[in-house]
Amino acid sequence: MKTERINTIKLISPSNEYAEQIVEYCAEFYADGGKAIFDGGGKIQGMAHIQNFDNPFDWIESCRLYEKYDTIPNREHTTATQYLTVRESDNKVIGAIQLRHELIGHELLNFGGHIGYSIRPSERRKGYAKEQLRLCLEKAREYGLDQVLLCCANTNAGSRQTILANGGKYESTILGGESGLYVERYWIQL
Ligand SMILES: CC(C)(COP(=O)(O)OP(=O)(O)OC[C@H]1O[C@@H](n2cnc3c(N)ncnc32)[C@H](O)[C@@H]1OP(=O)(O)O)[C@@H](O)C(=O)NCCC(=O)NCCS
Repeated sequence: MKTERINTIKLISPSNEYAEQIVEYCAEFYADGGKAIFDGGGKIQGMAHIQNFDNPFDWIESCRLYEKYDTIPNREHTTATQYLTVRESDNKVIGAIQLRHELIGHELLNFGGHIGYSIRPSERRKGYAKEQLRLCLEKAREYGLDQVLLCCANTNAGSRQTILANGGKYESTILGGESGLYVERYWIQL
């Protein structure tokens, strides 16, 4: 039997040409009830701090500034690389993923981990999250990390399966964090 393959996706740096798609992505996420799972904070996993911005252009610029310690807006935060996940066949943004370079602070070490991600609601259950994480692990390896921490709420079966499919090894479950939920912590060796 022929196996259906998911469409090829790639990770790109956010740029102004994707501004409209970024706005659409956020709208679709919130329309799907995304806010409720973020403790009312309006966060979108994989799109760092986007809830703090009035427009996509300032967020895109902030992502660029966060890449290097010399330009990071807040030195109490870790540097990070933000990616949009684009489907090659139609150039559509189908996901977002952020690689944090260091686990600075209690929140990231316990509840956030190195990588945060999401897939837009209309493109879920097609295998994209697994492939998106696989591509981001390659980026993490290229960056020089030799292991990464991934965290998910114990109620988030899709995220847990995504982590396990990419070699996640369970370490612990901790109560708390912004979500107030039990958070499962997994390490992936690179
Ligand atoms: C979690 C999320 C990224 C999964 O994206 P996705 O593209 O639907 O995931 P995939 O299609 O790659 O599926 C990955 C695995 O999870 C399973 N899965 C996906 N959604 C699921 C769900 N709602 N319930 C149970 N299992 C689910 C799939 O069956 C697959 O498992 P398998 O390999 O054993 O078959 C997506 O639901 C999402 O963006 N959620 C909101 C943001 C979020 O929770 N981010 C993660 C924070 S830790």
